[in-house]
Amino acid sequence: MSKSHKNYYKMMDNRVQIFDTTLRDGEQVPGCKLNGSQKLIIAKQLDLLGVDIIEAGFPISSPGDFSAVNEISKMVKNATVCGLTRANQKDIEVAAEALKYAKKPRIHTGIGTSDSHIKFKFNSDQNTIIERARAAVSYAKSFVEDVEFYAEDAGRTDNVFLARICEEVIKSGATVLNIPDTTGYCLPEQYGEKIKFLRENVKGIDKVTLSVHCHNDLGLATANAIAGIQNGARQIECTINGIGERAGNTALEEVVMIMKQHKSLNLDTAINTQLLYETSQLVRENMGMFVQANKAIVGENAFAHSSGIHQDGVIKNRETYEIMDPEEVGVSKSSIVLTARSGRAALAHRAKNIGYVLSKLDLDTVYPEFLKFADSKKEVVDKDLHLLLGQKGIQLSA
Ligand code: KIV
Ligand code: ZN
Repeated sequence: MSKSHKNYYKMMDNRVQIFDTTLRDGEQVPGCKLNGSQKLIIAKQLDLLGVDIIEAGFPISSPGDFSAVNEISKMVKNATVCGLTRANQKDIEVAAEALKYAKKPRIHTGIGTSDSHIKFKFNSDQNTIIERARAAVSYAKSFVEDVEFYAEDAGRTDNVFLARICEEVIKSGATVLNIPDTTGYCLPEQYGEKIKFLRENVKGIDKVTLSVHCHNDLGLATANAIAGIQNGARQIECTINGIGERAGNTALEEVVMIMKQHKSLNLDTAINTQLLYETSQLVRENMGMFVQANKAIVGENAFAHSSGIHQDGVIKNRETYEIMDPEEVGVSKSSIVLTARSGRAALAHRAKNIGYVLSKLDLDTVYPEFLKFADSKKEVVDKDLHLLLGQKGIQLSA
């Protein structure tokens, strides 16, 4: 790396912009469709959560999406409101109209740049694609100051061509360059290298923000987004609960907590992390999209301990098996789940929580019964525990 680039990285802003696309890339998923008022409820929560940009929809796609973007633009107080378009005039005009009440409007326009998109989707060639990209950015710029350009399928686009098109759209006035790994194909190292290549080879790159937009087809969306940020991108496009096309997008809660937990990255966001869990629940309920129990940060089991060894460790000291405090993400406390793998420490702990102080003798008496019972059930709940302790004549403590 040249000396000037080293200095550049040193001087770079450590604040990472969070661009939420739950209402666009997330909502386009089958079964996740929201009505207008649900979109408003979620947009309000995203604004409260502290996201920097809300991608509110794809205004030309339907009258419903147009009016949702329009209403969100009127309501949102802090965040930039963004609308997606393809690289054509009609899409851009409709998006500009939908965004006209936004305090901070952004038009997101772009075109496929990989060989496969150019050949099979557009039956075109690289020079024509550059021309279309330039024209779209200039046209969007005639409506709003803030124009983001996406190079669809950048993950599989040749880096030299990608650098060329980026340079051209910067000249046309783009303020943000989105480098999507649309198909979720890249390895973190490759994706990081791509961002670094652009940083080092595109004239005018320091005037714009580089953005990462990673899909999760190989389960690498979060790792790729972080690799991009480590190589100089300063905006992450993501969704609550990682919802999105096919296997989804980078999960907002994951990238935000990675930056918060790993102080050595020296990166920061404006997210109020204590609202992460309730935001996840709100999206889950409105979209009817189930969140897997073992989902990082917001899954039901993210702070639940079920094996005896882990339970004993957590009861002695939470940090033995937890790298973050559940309260930091809005979960009130860790839970000790009673199963046939639980030990005496967990049984005594849960019994205490519901009002029984067990002596060693009590534990010796009830533990074998507990194990028999637990073998026949997935989980032993408080009601079962009252019954078991009552059967052994153990009374609630005064
Ligand atoms: O994945 C993608 O390439 C996209 C673009 C439309 C930004 O969602
Ligand atoms: Zn996408």
